[in-house]
Amino acid sequence: MFTRISEKASGVLAPRPVSVKDRKGTFTFSQDTLMYVNPLFAEEAETFIDLLLEDLPYEEKGAGENELYINKRKGIKGYRLSITPEKAEVAAEDGVSIFQGLETLRSLLLTYGHTVPCCVISDYPKTEYRGFMLDVARHFVTIREIKKLLKAASLLHLNYFHWHLTDDQGWRFPLSFDPKVNEESSVRPAKDYQEERTEGGIYTRAELEEVVSYASRLHITIVPEIETPGHAMALLHAHPEFGCTGGPYEVPTTGGIFSDVLCVGNDEVLSFFRKVFAEVAEIFPGPYIHMGGDECPHTAYETCPKCQQRIRDNGLKDVRELQSWMTVQIAKIITELGRIPVGWDEVLENTDTMGLPPEVVVMSWRGSQGGIEAAKRGHRFIMSPSVEGVYYDYRYDREDPDEHGQYWGEASVRASYDFEPVKPEMGEHGDLVLGGQGNLWTERVDFGRDAEALLFPRLVALAESLWSGEKDWESFRARRGAIEKRLSSQDVMFWSGEWKSITHGAEPRGLADSRTLID
Ligand code: ACM
Ligand code: ZN
Repeated sequence: MFTRISEKASGVLAPRPVSVKDRKGTFTFSQDTLMYVNPLFAEEAETFIDLLLEDLPYEEKGAGENELYINKRKGIKGYRLSITPEKAEVAAEDGVSIFQGLETLRSLLLTYGHTVPCCVISDYPKTEYRGFMLDVARHFVTIREIKKLLKAASLLHLNYFHWHLTDDQGWRFPLSFDPKVNEESSVRPAKDYQEERTEGGIYTRAELEEVVSYASRLHITIVPEIETPGHAMALLHAHPEFGCTGGPYEVPTTGGIFSDVLCVGNDEVLSFFRKVFAEVAEIFPGPYIHMGGDECPHTAYETCPKCQQRIRDNGLKDVRELQSWMTVQIAKIITELGRIPVGWDEVLENTDTMGLPPEVVVMSWRGSQGGIEAAKRGHRFIMSPSVEGVYYDYRYDREDPDEHGQYWGEASVRASYDFEPVKPEMGEHGDLVLGGQGNLWTERVDFGRDAEALLFPRLVALAESLWSGEKDWESFRARRGAIEKRLSSQDVMFWSGEWKSITHGAEPRGLADSRTLID
């Protein structure tokens, strides 16, 4: 489907800025453009040029001198981007806003090439936390691909990257103190037809640091996740003594929810995670560390002497409260490292005896209920409800059997666009919301290219939903040509089906859900 690209700046940008006024004339960015940069923003200016030149090399010769100013100006909310034929100026008080302004300029340049229409833009975000999650456990994703996704996300003013680093099918976080985990938990057996191939990978510390540094240049904060106490089969394979039965355990080649989980009665498990999270905190400078907490069956605890002892020692009511006990211990480890623990919404359950430490941020994924409950209990929270268009492992259109993506769910572009983190039931506590996030689980995502087509254009819709105060689906649809032009310019794959105005919804998710893993 072809959508015309508007000749006016007011008709092409996404997320839609707070205000765009079109002006007459055009501005050409070329080697003749003189840049005047406030030294405070030297790094933002350099990043802007680096990102731009990757996709739009200088080629306009003899365009004539003009000027690009990057200025500090007090009293501006967000950034102001002013473009006349002779002079473009990005102004803001701080580096974050300056960079957002520069990314808007990059958007215009990727849309039109070197010559962009004149305009004046005032802009700032509606929502503080605008995130996306990538699961690199079900399928390994290379650093090169992750940097490419971060760059495309940055153009959308997304500012948090939740990196799901461990799960049943693979452990991707390198440990300095435990090479056995690095070697044995990071690979799983290949399927028959793959002959000798094994599936997996582990990042090196240098690679993680490279991504941290790249994200920091983009003003994107990384939220690393290490799963506890469920989704831990890969770890149990290297450390069978961390499970209730002692194993042996295999790294699974299928998806699903496994009843073998971390033994909560074993003190060694906690000592291990104290060291793991210390290394996580060393590498990732951001304020949040995610401790998982989702989909943990409690059946193995019923017959485990150590777990039963833990229940008695702590006056817990039953095995379900063991998970809550574990949440409190892990949250304490993270808090002592000076970071804020984040957990999937199961951390709100079975907390009668232990409570949930007030600093824990709740990530609501089983619908909105977790967010509503977290708000009521005074917790900060992030909304990522699987049934509201932000689970990108789902099909774009569940009625279409040729679609990639999980068959039981649908997250249409429209649903991503309509997503709103704050619900009426939250009442006055709605302001405890940090923001929203789209998640890509990778059971059915073999390669980075597959990830791109599942993320885009839904992530563009989500970004606008979280950024822009005024939403308008028909206006968003009319900008499709420009959105796709910018994705193509960055060599990012995107889904090319119809952006329907209706949406079929998705099934609620939870413990009953099963997934397929395609290697
Ligand atoms: C989840 O989707 N299991 C958080
Ligand atoms: Zn146990």
